[in-house]
Amino acid sequence: MVNTKVDLCGIQLDNPVMAASGTFGYGYEFAELYDINVLGSFSFKGTTLKPRFGNPTPRIAECSEGLINSIGLQNPGVDKVISEELPKLAECFDKKVMANVGGFSIEEYSEVAKRLGECEQVGWVEVNVSCPNVHHGGLAFGTDPQAAASVVRAVKEVVRKPVIVKLSPNVTDIVSIAVECEKAGADGISLINTLLGMRINLKTKKPVVANKMGGFSGPAVFPVALRMVYQVYENVKIPVVGIGGIRTAEDVIEMMLAGASAVQIGAANLTDPYVCRDIVRDLPEVMKKYGITDLKEIIGGAHNG
Ligand code: FUM
Repeated sequence: MVNTKVDLCGIQLDNPVMAASGTFGYGYEFAELYDINVLGSFSFKGTTLKPRFGNPTPRIAECSEGLINSIGLQNPGVDKVISEELPKLAECFDKKVMANVGGFSIEEYSEVAKRLGECEQVGWVEVNVSCPNVHHGGLAFGTDPQAAASVVRAVKEVVRKPVIVKLSPNVTDIVSIAVECEKAGADGISLINTLLGMRINLKTKKPVVANKMGGFSGPAVFPVALRMVYQVYENVKIPVVGIGGIRTAEDVIEMMLAGASAVQIGAANLTDPYVCRDIVRDLPEVMKKYGITDLKEIIGGAHNG
């Protein structure tokens, strides 16, 4: 028997496998395909104060080993998430869910985080300071250590649950941002969000996505994400959630050796909606193959000392 249980900020997960925000809707959509209670948990679509239609279309560009998205935080707004989406989720998911919070001002982050943090189903609040697809929001806060810390401080004042900050790879020094977020009271760090990228259509000779650029994710970003998880783990004491290009149980183990306490699967859900279920299924066999009996024991195992 192997033990896949892990702890994320004081909440026990049956396994470290979570679906990433923006790739799993509000969960119930995937419950039509399989029992989503097999997951450790998932992070739901980034939610803002007001409903958002998102960016103009086209907003997806295919790439080898990944894709670019420029969704623009499309979501029904916090009122509807609480009154409509979370009740639907309650019918098919018994575990705590992670609430992903977007915003365009510190006040908005704080208000949305407070309201979602008060929902019984919500276990963690994930503060998204890393969306590359909106102007004056998301990434504008996540590229500056002090701005990111200000968001964390404001959210921590009003949320009584663990606050996890989702960081962007589109920076020169992700460690300094993680460290400031920890000092500001963050309970965990999740990384990485998408890498800013673009494609150009050779026939039209114009950018493929209407917003010109978007966030690149998928298997190609895995080594970048792994490196950043490794660096951040060495410099903070709070748990790290590893995100970026994960698509197999082997990738999960590699991310945990780099320092992740749990992982989120993103782009892979878009090409294979069963991927999270299959990773959970495969994990015990892969653990046995590599002589691992308890997943908790391998967190950060690739570091010296
Ligand atoms: O554009 C989007 O909705 C993506 C959000 C994100 O990457 O955080």
